[in-house]
Amino acid sequence: MDQSKGNNYKQEDIKSSNFYHGGNIYAKAKKLNLPTSEIIDSSASLVPFDPPQILLDSLTSEIQNLGFRYYPDRNLTKLKAIIGEFHKINPDNILPGNGASELITWAGYEASKFGISYIPSPGFVDYERSLNCWNANFIHLELPKEWSGIFPQCFPLKQNGDVIWITNPHNPTGQLWKKKSLEPILEKYKLVICDEAFLSLTPNGEKESLIPLTKKYDNLLVLRSLTKLFNIPGIRLGYVIGCYKKLSQWQIKRDPWPLNSFAIQAGIEILSNKSFYEQWIMKIHNWINTEKQLVYDELSKVDSLKIHKSSTNFFLIENKFSLTPNIKYLESKGILIRECSSFRFLNEKWARISLQSPKNNKLLCREIQNSFKK
Ligand SMILES: Cc1ncc(COP(=O)(O)O)c(C=O)c1O
Repeated sequence: MDQSKGNNYKQEDIKSSNFYHGGNIYAKAKKLNLPTSEIIDSSASLVPFDPPQILLDSLTSEIQNLGFRYYPDRNLTKLKAIIGEFHKINPDNILPGNGASELITWAGYEASKFGISYIPSPGFVDYERSLNCWNANFIHLELPKEWSGIFPQCFPLKQNGDVIWITNPHNPTGQLWKKKSLEPILEKYKLVICDEAFLSLTPNGEKESLIPLTKKYDNLLVLRSLTKLFNIPGIRLGYVIGCYKKLSQWQIKRDPWPLNSFAIQAGIEILSNKSFYEQWIMKIHNWINTEKQLVYDELSKVDSLKIHKSSTNFFLIENKFSLTPNIKYLESKGILIRECSSFRFLNEKWARISLQSPKNNKLLCREIQNSFKK
């Protein structure tokens, strides 16, 4: 266990607002003197397909019909109704946000009221940022560094406490947790925050969602993001599902218009069209199932590398030696992977890789293999 208060970011990362996220494509493009379009960004875990045409058409008509003339609907009534219909949840229990990231900030506000937060680690770095915003205490709980390749699996931590932040599937390990193993945790903590940003992407993932349990447990908040699934990080769209009393407090305190009109329209369009959504999901799951195995087989040919099994579109690799020279070599070829020394309990022998298009995965694997020949 490792208790922290205050941040442990390096000064230069704070200055450049990188905060150890992947996907720093503009900064990297400048550093490498390359246009962003020539970079293979395997450090951010987005699907490699263009956003759906129905979304582009809908946003174009939004510009043509309304332009930028009105303030967006502050109550987000239509979007909440569509999300409610999608998940069979009362719209009063839904709050859309400017990406899941904005809602992580508010989840930190909620967590700060209940006491110490437990962060299973290595874990998504943004939870620390959020807790630091509210001057809240947190403890890192170390996750085992070995796991099977069979998913879903049982959540391995058994402690009680005030607040726990669960990520399902877990970032950066890609482990999918069994809903059955998460439900007892709701009895052990005053507040459970479950981040399902990657769940819809993950083959067989949706069955493990805790969203239905929000009807039974007032101490549960479930976060969702549309960023990864539709490759729309620039739109900024996510939502949280949970207790009305909590969410209405956030609504009172937050900015008046956190979602712009296009994010609202994007959510309405994507989530109201069920048959489109199901087709899209099928395409994504097929891509993950096929490419994950191919990339695993290719990278397993490198003797010193261990490829950790994942349920989703990103996975960890672990080398016998530092991966820093390999990461530098890849950067010189315009390929970014996520170095992991900034993750608690990992070091420079670890990196996270996100699946790309079939063509780019071949290139990625070839260059990773080449980087070991240097
Ligand atoms: C686990 C996890 N949750 C949430 C987010 C943020 O998603 P959004 O783009 O919706 O803010 C990320 C982004 O990397 C993530 O990895």
